[in-house]
Amino acid sequence: MKGIVLAGGKGTRLYPMTKAVSKQLLPVFDKPLIYYPISVLMLAGIKDILIISTPEDIGAYEKLLGDGAKLGVNFTFKVQEQPRGLADAFILGEEHIGGDRVCLVLGDNVFYGQSLSAALERAVAQPSGATVFGYPVADAREFGVVEFDDNHNVISIEEKPEYPKSKYAVPGLYFYDNSVVEIAKAVKPSVRGEIEITSVNNEYLARGELKVELLGRGMAWLDTGSPVGLLKAAEFVEAVQSRQGLYVACIEEIAWRKGFISDGGLRAVGEELSMTEYGRYLLSLLEG
Ligand code: G1P
Repeated sequence: MKGIVLAGGKGTRLYPMTKAVSKQLLPVFDKPLIYYPISVLMLAGIKDILIISTPEDIGAYEKLLGDGAKLGVNFTFKVQEQPRGLADAFILGEEHIGGDRVCLVLGDNVFYGQSLSAALERAVAQPSGATVFGYPVADAREFGVVEFDDNHNVISIEEKPEYPKSKYAVPGLYFYDNSVVEIAKAVKPSVRGEIEITSVNNEYLARGELKVELLGRGMAWLDTGSPVGLLKAAEFVEAVQSRQGLYVACIEEIAWRKGFISDGGLRAVGEELSMTEYGRYLLSLLEG
């Protein structure tokens, strides 16, 4: 399975913070925001990861992530000239996807929870169709929202409804079979002029091939779309990390635990960062 991280957009809701810096490079406590979605792909066992960003910002992602060899993964980069919508990721990523299945994660989505890995494994194990998730939020109006019938069957997904039909928002983490490329190409732009991921999901639903897995209350899907959201996400990560002494979304640690890199590989990245708590944490993992 291939992975795509979409890290485009102008980040206007976070101006002036994001006037000169791409949103997904902003820190969430001790690491750049994009580490969090990348960690999700790696936890799903995905090693071939395409990063899509704007012409202005793509170079910064290349500088941050390199080719991925240090993490035992393969990062490639692609420019999105215009923010045409999330489904554009599959058109831009056509070559990267090839004949494979694909997982798209939005570059500003932060997930954390004990049940995450199992949910990822189930999605990866699904040989065809699509898997998306439903997550209860207090105010679903800013998201794709799942509508259920009386028997809890999904009957539609609505994008940013004024009056949400449930409290289940669809987070920015999507698993698709190879049909997604053709489906994305056929999507017509919405009133906001974007080719919506929600249209892709509704097409899978119409084909009877959409699985919506509901995430429970023990999972965290954090908002990074506002200054307060970013601050709260940072506080959440700090609270978990300082209490447990275990890092959230530490991509170097995940690479090592997944066997993508050896002890020597982890030592090398740890030593590079040994002037920081982060680097010392990586080195401490080798002591067991
Ligand atoms: C996008 C999707 C929406 C989804 C959300 C998750 O919204 O269009 O369906 O619920 O991501 O983060 P946008 O970021 O474009 O507002």
